[in-house]
Amino acid sequence: MTKQVAILGSTGSIGVNTLDVIRAHPDRFKVVALTAGKQVERLAEQCIEFQPEIAVVTEVQDAARLEKFLLAKGLRTKVLYGPQALVTAVTESGCDTVMAAIVGAAGLVPTLAAAQAGKRVLLANKEALVMSGNLFMQAMQRGGGELLPIDSEHNAIFQCLPNGFAKVPQSSLGVEELWLTASGGPFRDTPLEQLAGITPAQACAHPNWVMGKKISVDSATMMNKGLEVIEAFWLFGLPLEKIKVLIHPQSVVHSMVRYRDGSVLAQMGQPDMRTPIAYGLSWPERVDAGVAPLNLAQLAALSFAEPDLARFPCLSLAFAAAKAGGTSPAILNAANEIAVAAFLDEGLPYLQIAKVVEQVLNAIPSSNADSLETILSVDAQARKLAQDFICKH
Ligand SMILES: NC(=O)c1ccc[n+]([C@@H]2O[C@H](COP(=O)([O-])OP(=O)(O)OC[C@H]3O[C@@H](n4cnc5c(N)ncnc54)[C@H](OP(=O)(O)O)[C@@H]3O)[C@@H](O)[C@H]2O)c1
Repeated sequence: MTKQVAILGSTGSIGVNTLDVIRAHPDRFKVVALTAGKQVERLAEQCIEFQPEIAVVTEVQDAARLEKFLLAKGLRTKVLYGPQALVTAVTESGCDTVMAAIVGAAGLVPTLAAAQAGKRVLLANKEALVMSGNLFMQAMQRGGGELLPIDSEHNAIFQCLPNGFAKVPQSSLGVEELWLTASGGPFRDTPLEQLAGITPAQACAHPNWVMGKKISVDSATMMNKGLEVIEAFWLFGLPLEKIKVLIHPQSVVHSMVRYRDGSVLAQMGQPDMRTPIAYGLSWPERVDAGVAPLNLAQLAALSFAEPDLARFPCLSLAFAAAKAGGTSPAILNAANEIAVAAFLDEGLPYLQIAKVVEQVLNAIPSSNADSLETILSVDAQARKLAQDFICKH
């Protein structure tokens, strides 16, 4: 049966890669909703090619422009705008599968809506799970849909676990540890004294992956890996101390599971997001993802090392927030989003990203993250505080 797919964040890096996989399999996947933030031209091109029922942008004037353009092309796509329209794209497009690929907290509400509505949720938007972990997993359970991780590390772990990972406690499967691999980003070996002068262009030039700007900076600071540890905690239900990070500069082993009997299962592949995207879309089957085959004989070596926490203070901050639990991960995430945006705007030096996050985490006490209202209110408070710290900087 053809899967009906809604893509939240279709104009971004994950969105474009998702459409690339779908384009190759018109018999398997039909696009029913596409959402963008500001890239109206790119969304217009996508609508012309994939003819969704619903298209969403952020601003009213962009919606008017898009609607006029699509009508002139004879398309009957319903054009909507604003945050609530992202939920409508999930609940009223007739989709059964949702690619959650909006970056940051903006993706939380529509991703939760997909969970509640029992869709197959392809989760790229890790920030949504970091902010709302318990609430989100409960919504998935109540909705009864399938949750498939798209982050390459979590997708790798999913592939290394027996089917139905969420339904069986990992301890009864003999799982001892999860090893999340990390390339270490562009500054893995940069002398520490040079880090102060890092520019946004340098931080966004990831050695192995081509990604959106925010996740590229997060990879450089390794906040990304910290967010992924929290993501793994919620997805796989293992205690935090059993989730380890390993630097693996070649980005070939995407992550591993160590079992009680001494076996370590790894998933390997090219650093190309189309592999986990294709797996999520077609699971439990596998389809051609358009990815070049991996040639192990051409690789000089695969190496692994412990991360240097002095070089990557954001990783320590994420571990601390994960350990504190409650609203701490949401506070960490909000402060980081603001600090990274300021760094990208050249309003904050690179090394201050971790400092801003630390100040905000210290200033707001952790509380129970038991409702969406609480999480959104803490998120707003942390953003404001981060902004204040940046202004004073
Ligand atoms: N890229 C990767 O390889 C990768 C790998 C693993 C996980 N992820 C995760 O996947 C998510 C997306 O990453 P990405 O690299 O694809 O990011 P990206 O290239 O920056 O794309 C983000 C998408 O979200 C949309 N968007 C941004 N703010 C929005 C808002 N306020 N309201 C509605 N839509 C909004 C953007 O729309 P416009 O561009 O039209 O404004 C774009 O479509 C992130 O959570 C990231 O951590 C990405």
